[in-house]
Amino acid sequence: MVKIAIVTGATGGLGQEFIKEIQKIDEIDEIWAVGRNEKKLEELRKKYSIIRPVIADFSTDGVEVIKQKIRKELRANIDDVRFLINNAGIGYMGHFDKQGTEDIEKLCKINCSAPAALMSLCIPYMKRGAKIINVSSASSFQPNPYLSMYSASKVFLKNLSRAVSVELKSRGITVTCVCPGWIDTEMLPDEKDGEKIHYTGKISAEKVVKKAMRDCLKGKDISTPGAFASYFRIYSKYTPTKIVMKQWVKAIRRYVA
Ligand SMILES: NC(=O)c1ccc[n+]([C@@H]2O[C@H](COP(=O)([O-])OP(=O)(O)OC[C@H]3O[C@@H](n4cnc5c(N)ncnc54)[C@H](OP(=O)(O)O)[C@@H]3O)[C@@H](O)[C@H]2O)c1
Repeated sequence: MVKIAIVTGATGGLGQEFIKEIQKIDEIDEIWAVGRNEKKLEELRKKYSIIRPVIADFSTDGVEVIKQKIRKELRANIDDVRFLINNAGIGYMGHFDKQGTEDIEKLCKINCSAPAALMSLCIPYMKRGAKIINVSSASSFQPNPYLSMYSASKVFLKNLSRAVSVELKSRGITVTCVCPGWIDTEMLPDEKDGEKIHYTGKISAEKVVKKAMRDCLKGKDISTPGAFASYFRIYSKYTPTKIVMKQWVKAIRRYVA
């Protein structure tokens, strides 16, 4: 029996931290590290012997690549997907109508369709104790103008995670949705037109992943790493949405083209 973990977005800031944590878990035989950047995947393979690089682009045929790999390499009822970490994601900050329809479709494929499809593909290979982590965002707590598609996609992922976590409870499989605020990774540009961008409450990828792993091992369905995300979750729950959106727009407007 082979016990595997699948980590998407493995080449990015959060993905590399997830791999660092997962490779410490004794029971895991292989980590399928998924991404497009071959060079970074190869570096990961050299660093950790447990890594199996999987080159897949979720804006094209990435889901199909993983589907074929699962069919070819895993034996149903024998092999075991212990962790599925749906972490790959893209964002676009700016006016909604400046995105083309291709950009909109691409974001939906990477942020929504791919994680849903991977859950569907992996669950048949999951046994009691298996864990799914879906990386959403604190932007799922309210609509975010000028980050509208991203924020909406993260609501999709959060609601999907929570609903599926209820469905899988009796089978002993947990689904944890991670909702961090700003994280210090390459996803965030440092400056806009020469002006340094200030990200309130920005935290390290390491902190986010350590908290996500703790919450996932406890079987929590939501993880809000960092004081800012925890505060924001409560604040946006009890404050009228119009006010929260107004404050958000005030904070980010000058960075929007
Ligand atoms: N950074 C933040 O402030 C923040 C806050 C809240 C939530 N998040 C979420 O955290 C997750 C990880 O983001 P990060 O901050 O670590 O950003 P990142 O460093 O930019 O990493 C993004 C990852 O997504 C992968 N990816 C992008 N396009 C892809 C595609 N077409 N097909 C397959 N994989 C693709 C990238 O891999 P390749 O380039 O190798 O394809 C990369 O590994 C995302 O879901 C993001 O929405 C981030």
